[in-house]
Amino acid sequence: MAACSPVLLARGRPCRNLKEAAENFRALLSAEEVFGNLNPVELEIGCGNGAFVAELAKREPDRNFYAVEICSNVILTAMERVMREGIPNVRFLNIPAEILPCYLPGESVEKIYLNFSTPLPEPNRAKQRLTSPRFLGIYRALLKDGGTIEQKTDSGYFFDFSLAQYALCGFEVTDVTRDLHKSAYAAGNIVTEYEANFLAQGKPIYRAVAVKRAAPAENEDALLPPQ
Ligand SMILES: C[S@@+](CC[C@H](N)C(=O)[O-])C[C@H]1O[C@@H](n2cnc3c(N)ncnc32)[C@H](O)[C@@H]1O
Repeated sequence: MAACSPVLLARGRPCRNLKEAAENFRALLSAEEVFGNLNPVELEIGCGNGAFVAELAKREPDRNFYAVEICSNVILTAMERVMREGIPNVRFLNIPAEILPCYLPGESVEKIYLNFSTPLPEPNRAKQRLTSPRFLGIYRALLKDGGTIEQKTDSGYFFDFSLAQYALCGFEVTDVTRDLHKSAYAAGNIVTEYEANFLAQGKPIYRAVAVKRAAPAENEDALLPPQ
């Protein structure tokens, strides 16, 4: 982990209470200082082994990328990849997405990627899904107006849940497909580690874009569908 310090910006939880941490702890990063330029900033949440963000950063050298991953041994693989390949425009945060507001300034991000986030189909885990109103509120605060979330998943249930939450939380849903690899959106798609596994199993990949729009409803609990 120490060898990866040049690309690792944050590690761990500022305190046990994530809500309190997000409200009270601030170690806001300046992208200009981090990357040495004023290029647009994009964010991948749950980057896994980093294959996606590494390829994207190579294709988009004039954009900067933050990659967030909660699991230390997984993010280590991603960081080693980026360092080995000498990719200059990627930095990592080994934190739970819940505390992103502690590190990234509001309205500083142009695009968020959610690739194969854990679907958590159990009804009592709806609030932990990365597209629940709690998280969409965080993403809204981080995104610039007109900023987007690009989501891919193998779970039809999670996909439908996410589309409903986007609509309720002030996002306009566009570019929807329930079979990415048989759609026009397949061109230029970067296949992630999990995506490759699901494709090998013959599963369709669901994909949508959510664009930040009007103000959302105020009570996030009222937004979750009845279970
Ligand atoms: C199913 S894997 C997908 C990995 C990768 N995106 C891919 O498509 O190959 C989901 C990843 O999200 C990470 N993750 C789950 N919840 C998270 C959270 N709250 N904050 C940050 N990362 C999270 C997990 O540790 C895991 O590596």
